[in-house]
Amino acid sequence: SKAPIRVAVTGAAGQIGYALLPRIASGQMFGPDQPVILQLLELPMEKAMAALEGVAMELDDCAFPLLHSMVLTSDVNVAFKDVNWALLVGSKPRGPGMERNDLIKENGPIFVGQGKAINDHGAADVRVAVVGNPCNTNALIAMHAAKDVPDERFTAMTRLDQNRATAQLAAKAGVASTEVSHTLIWGNHSATQVPDYVNTRIGGKSAGEVITDREWLQGEFFTTVQQRGAAIIKARGLSSAASAAGGLVDHVHDLVHPQAEGDWRSVCVPSDGSYGVPAGLISSFPVRATAKGYEIVQGLELDDFLRARLDATVGELQREKEVVADLLG
Ligand code: NAI
Repeated sequence: SKAPIRVAVTGAAGQIGYALLPRIASGQMFGPDQPVILQLLELPMEKAMAALEGVAMELDDCAFPLLHSMVLTSDVNVAFKDVNWALLVGSKPRGPGMERNDLIKENGPIFVGQGKAINDHGAADVRVAVVGNPCNTNALIAMHAAKDVPDERFTAMTRLDQNRATAQLAAKAGVASTEVSHTLIWGNHSATQVPDYVNTRIGGKSAGEVITDREWLQGEFFTTVQQRGAAIIKARGLSSAASAAGGLVDHVHDLVHPQAEGDWRSVCVPSDGSYGVPAGLISSFPVRATAKGYEIVQGLELDDFLRARLDATVGELQREKEVVADLLG
């Protein structure tokens, strides 16, 4: 049988952690024959560590065959020791009356410390997925702090947005979600993100040809996907957790299980200048996982509406980068 891999999860006692850990431990992320060691990081507060103990007790009680062992810690250097994957979920939620820029400044330093610890203690093949918001900019901060880790090991998550767009398109077209493929989100994981109805396919055809209601594609489809997080908070009183955990399971699963030529997933990765997105930003692109890593799929066409929206979301990423400039070393 395979040797276990080490997977760090930060904010492991939080909502997403609770939904995520059983799915990793049951093999849904790395495959049904891959044992895992879970290295779980929480804040050094009695309440947080006690909650983490409780989560670990429940994982024990599931007796998952693939769960080799667990490490519970509030020390970043312990959490990232020899890890192959670092899943950065934990961060402070936005408080009442807090502006997005305040949140960015508040959470940024966490990702400097974690990036350094990943650099110093991670395995030689360490890869990183950031979920904690603002995830693109937090991933950029961690990437800069991890000087010796190649930039392309850093990703942030728009897979939940991709899955939301898939569900909306399937419902509108009246087809099963399996008929929707190549679902594509561009830009920032924020309310400016761009769900692409031109390159996303329904039954193999452009979604924009199958769904002829332009007003819906450029209106309600956009706002529903962009505002879904807020709608979940309004309905549930808590932010998305099961679907966010599901997005992360899919994100990592599809990065470690290569796609066929011509296929892609939405993944936030460091730009190489593709599609006019300046290098030095972490933005959502069509990404195809390969045996060696991944590539940004080239040659897709955008209509004028999508192009303008892409420029706007990239502008937001640039402004976020300016806000954290002092954290980029
Ligand atoms: P939560 O508040 O339930 O859990 C976060 C946990 O992280 C808490 O247990 C907290 O103690 C811990 N934490 C905070 N700072 C930490 C640090 N420096 N080190 C270790 N642990 C730390 O939040 P939830 O619902 O689990 O969400 C986590 C994050 O994921 C939030 O930032 C949220 O905005 C983001 N998110 C991102 C999505 C995406 O699509 N990219 C979707 C949904 C949520």
